Order: sequence, then C-alpha cells, then structure tokens
Amino acid sequence: MRTHMCGELRPTDAGQTVSVCGWVASRREHGQNLAFVDVRDHTGIVQCVVDGANELRSEFVVRVTGTVRARPEGTANPNLPTGDVEVGDCTVEILSQAEPPPFPVADRVDADENLRLRHRYVDLRRPAMQRNLRLRATVSSAIRRSMEAQGFVEVETPTLIASTPEGARDFVVPSRLQPGSFYALPQSPQLFKQLLMVGGIDRYYQLARCLRDEDLRADRQFEFTQLDAEMSFADQADVIGVISATVVAAIRAAGREVADEIPRMTWREAQDRFGSDKPDVRFGMELVELTDAVAGTGFRALQAPCVKGIRVPGEAGMGRARIDRLTDQAKAAGAGGLVWLKMEGETLESPILKFLSAEEKSALPKALGAEPDDLLLVVAGERPTVDRVLGQLRLELGRPPVNEGGINLLWVTDFPLFEGLDGEGRPIPAHHPFTMPHPDDLDRLDAEPLSVRSQAYDLVLNGWELGSGSVRIHRPDIQQRIFSFLGIEPEEAQSRFGFLLDAFRHGAPPHAGFAFGIDRLVALLAGEENIREVIAFPKTQSGVDPLTGAPGPVDPRQLAELGLRVLPRPT
Ligand code: AMO
Repeated sequence: MRTHMCGELRPTDAGQTVSVCGWVASRREHGQNLAFVDVRDHTGIVQCVVDGANELRSEFVVRVTGTVRARPEGTANPNLPTGDVEVGDCTVEILSQAEPPPFPVADRVDADENLRLRHRYVDLRRPAMQRNLRLRATVSSAIRRSMEAQGFVEVETPTLIASTPEGARDFVVPSRLQPGSFYALPQSPQLFKQLLMVGGIDRYYQLARCLRDEDLRADRQFEFTQLDAEMSFADQADVIGVISATVVAAIRAAGREVADEIPRMTWREAQDRFGSDKPDVRFGMELVELTDAVAGTGFRALQAPCVKGIRVPGEAGMGRARIDRLTDQAKAAGAGGLVWLKMEGETLESPILKFLSAEEKSALPKALGAEPDDLLLVVAGERPTVDRVLGQLRLELGRPPVNEGGINLLWVTDFPLFEGLDGEGRPIPAHHPFTMPHPDDLDRLDAEPLSVRSQAYDLVLNGWELGSGSVRIHRPDIQQRIFSFLGIEPEEAQSRFGFLLDAFRHGAPPHAGFAFGIDRLVALLAGEENIREVIAFPKTQSGVDPLTGAPGPVDPRQLAELGLRVLPRPT
C-alpha cells in the first residue's frame, strides 16, 4: 500500500510520486480549500498538502499519494527530519475513521495513567512508546545473540508448576481435573533450570516470563521478563564473565556507551561506603566512619557502637522544615535521631555544639572532609541501622534523575547467606535456599550463622538491582544442613523440593546461574523512571489492566467446574 515511510522523505526524493500510510497527526487550514495534513507512522511525520481535507480528523487512518517537493522558501521546519519537504497534489484515501483521541498523541503526555492504559493502543502511537518498545526488541535480540554466541541453548520451561521459592506470593491457577488442587505460576524458572543442569543441558538460557504477586512499584510488575541463565561445571567467575558480556552487548546495541570491564565490590564494602546492597555509584556522598573520632564523647546521642556521617555539599542553607523531615525519615528507618552540623562559611554551626569537646568539633568536619557551606549529617547506633539510614538519606539528597550520569554497572559479591533472624530466631535466607555458602565460612554455620557469606552476587545498574545469581548447592549433604538450619524439616523439604533433591541423587554437576530483569534494563536505557513505560500492556499500581478489565469475576459455571466457591470479602 505504501512506497515510503512518512519519516524518510528528503529533498533528494523531490519529483517522485509516493504513497504513504498512517494516522492524521494534525490538520491546519491553508485557505482556498487547501490544508496541511501531517501524516504519522512509526518513523515520523510528513506534511501533505491536501485539497478538500474537510472530512479528515485527527487519528483517521489514511493513504496519501502525491508528489514530493521542496517546501517553499522560508517555510522549512528545522525541527522535523522531513521538514524540508512536503507531499503535494495529494489524493487521500480514508482507510479508517477514528473517534477524537482521548489524549493528544504527543511525545510528552500529561494524561492520567488510567486513561492512557485504557486506550493503550492510542498511547502506543506516541513516539516515546514507539521508541521504548523498539528499544526493548533491540535489547532482547542482542541478549539472545550474545547468549547463543557463548554456547547457550534456549529451553522453555513450564508455566503451570508447583511453587518456586523466590520470596514473593504465588499466583495460583485452579486445576479442573483435580478440583481443590492448584498450579502456581512461576516466580522464576529457578528449579527447572537446575533440573536442566542435571539433564546435561550444560548452558541454558531463556527470556523467561515470571509472575509474582507482590506490591507494585516503579521497578516492579506482577509479570516481568528475565534473562534467565544457568551453567554447569562453572563457578561465580564464569557466570560473571558470561553475563557481563551479554549485558554490555545489550547496552551497546541500544547505542549507549559502557566499559568492557564491570567494576566489582563486596557486599560489605557496599554497605560500608554506600549503606546499600545496590549502590548508586553515579554520585559520591559516601558514608564516612566517625566512630573513632567521637570515641569517649560526653554527648549521649553519639555514644553508640557505630557513628557515621555524610557530607552534603553546598546544603548548609537547608531550612529547618526540610531537616525535620529528614530527621523523621531517619527515625522511621530505625535511627534514634539525626545529628546535623552546618559549615556557615568556615564556622561550624549546630544545636549540638555545646555537647561536643573542642577536639570533636575539629575532628568531625575534618573526617567528613567538610568545606564551606556544606551540611553534615551524622547517625549513631548499631552498624546495620546506621548504614541503612545514611544510605537512604544519601539517595534522598544526592540521587541524580534516571537519565543522567551515564550507565554505571557494578557487581556486588559475597552477599551474606542469611539476611537476619525471623521472629523465632531462625536465619532468613538472603537469596534462595539453594545458594552455596562460601567455602571458607562453612565451619561458622552453627556458631555465627549471620557472618557466613554466600556465593551469591548481584548486578547493579545506576542504583537499581538489575539481577541476582549464585553458585548452587549440588551436594545433598550441604543442602540438608541448610534446610535444617532454616527450620525446613526433612518431610517438608521432601514435599516442597523432593523432586529436586531426588534429581540431585542422580548425578548433579556443580552449577551456577543468574537472572536479570529485562524490563529494568530497558527502562534505564530508555531513561524511564517506571518499567510500565517499556511494557506494552502493563498493570496499574493497583494491579489492574484498565484496557481489558482484568482481573474480573468468572462465570459461576466455570467456578463450579473448578470446584470453587467465592467467599464474601472479610469486613
Ligand atoms: P531475583 O528474584 O533476584 O532472582 O530476580 C532477578 C531479577 O528479576 C527482576 N525482577 C523483577 N522485575 C520486575 N518486576 C518484578 N516484580 C521483579 N522481580 C524481580 C529484577 C531482579 O534482579 N531465580 C533467581 C535468579 C538466580 O538465582 O538465577 C531470581 O529470580 O531485575
């Protein structure tokens, strides 16, 4: 139907008869029955000069045939790639009429999220959405090419499965043939990829759709896509090598610059310097150890096992209301309070000065590297709390917008095996229960479990957790030890993961793997704050699809067939 795309016509095409197809982006009257009609397809917009365009309305679908010509002197539009030309002597075929669009089809849109998603098919015509979805395709395709070039084989794993332990709630699907029984939708292909290793697949990958019933946030949807990978006879270094190559290839395919070598940092160092296991290294404001500088202080608020601070450059003028809000935030995150000092020029000002000794008044700003007009924030308490609180304040006060500061990848290694103790004093696994402990720490498992490191590693991009992976336990004896440690009784282990434990008794190779979120990678490459912007048909914050109306009730007959009855909502 068309000879050219709208966005590709140039002065060199002048004199050619062309046909373009697309949507009417705008119509401007030009007197004597003539109108300028901008026609849009995904490549751009071209101006068509149409005689008798009265019937044409915004978003009508048209086929325009005419002759390309240079625009008259002085009427070129330098903001448009096709701005030097127009299509004249046009005949217009209306292929489809359209109701007035619910919001303007423009690059920037202020329309309400619900309205945009209800008419997603209109929203998708916006240049930004076109760019994002095409960028996503480019990234996915580069990921596939890179994994295949490294000898990985794509294998599909099932969607109707038994539960996979990734720490979120399962979406469940009732079984018709076994009423009262349910499938879970996969939170990840984790257990199947480990079975594939026992099955000799050796190097597996998949662009896997994962489903998790968790609260939705800017970087979380119910459904998302992972590059999921696993390899046999391989260790952490092998996995980091493969995934680094693939992520770098994907980023370059998106036209962005990134170094070949991805820096690494241990989890401990990330906590010490950034107060986070996913440090945003686009900016400084690192946490500074002050424990020694205030050792023996007479000021009660700083008498604590750990005292640290951050220097907020040039913020000495920060108003009291903002500082109070930061203090509330610090307390909500577990701190006893927030100590603040200001460098008013060269002079240190703070309501707590009277409690500090002369040495402390000079040691604190010195340790923090304070300069005139800086704000200094200090937190005292238990080390994990101090790190967490300052890590949050650092982000709040320093984090650049998503599209600034380039692409900063970082491997964070040596995660602890357990992230803490539950209400009954049992360790909570930091990753999943199949993660191999660090070999040097195995003998501390009983005495000091929280100090045991794991062979788990994360990939971080500009402060977002892009992906996680680990070396897996392939020895039944170590797996049993970890299960009993986690309070998972042998019977429970057998009933939940028996199939995996059985498989491991049939010859399990040592194996390790990784998965990273494609939605998150594409969002950051597209400069978007929310992964919804890189998903064609996402859910709203409340988990609804305003376009199709999902979720909705089902027919009572369907329920009966499944042996289900819906209870009234608890009040
Ligand atoms: P994990 O649970 O850390 O690891 O998930 C890996 C990556 O998947 C992405 N992700 C999400 N993206 C969007 N919405 C969500 N709700 C969501 N949840 C997770 C993130 C995350 O880093 N099986 C292990 C991996 C392994 O050990 O091989 C796993 O799934 O980018």
